[in-house]
Amino acid sequence: MTFVSNEVDLTSVEIKPSGATVLGLARKAKLPLDSSCLEGTCGSCRVTVLEAPPELEPPHDVERDTLAERQMRADERLGCQMVACPGLKVKIPVYD
Ligand code: FES
Repeated sequence: MTFVSNEVDLTSVEIKPSGATVLGLARKAKLPLDSSCLEGTCGSCRVTVLEAPPELEPPHDVERDTLAERQMRADERLGCQMVACPGLKVKIPVYD
């Protein structure tokens, strides 16, 4: 999968172990993706999905509720809840 920031490909990472979350892979690659609760409720780990392969699983109940409560866009997901898959491309938000 690939991480993007400021429209530039930051890095492509191998999905290891299988079932790793987007946040877990970002941390492993030392990328600046915020996080706090790790339970899918705070919304701080949000990413924008730029390319979603068919294998990408849809949000489960907790993530879906948080996305709705925080009025996130349809292309946003929570990195701590989202299981990475080959071909996935996400954008990490940049905060000033
Ligand atoms: S770290 Fe809180 S929702 Fe992901």
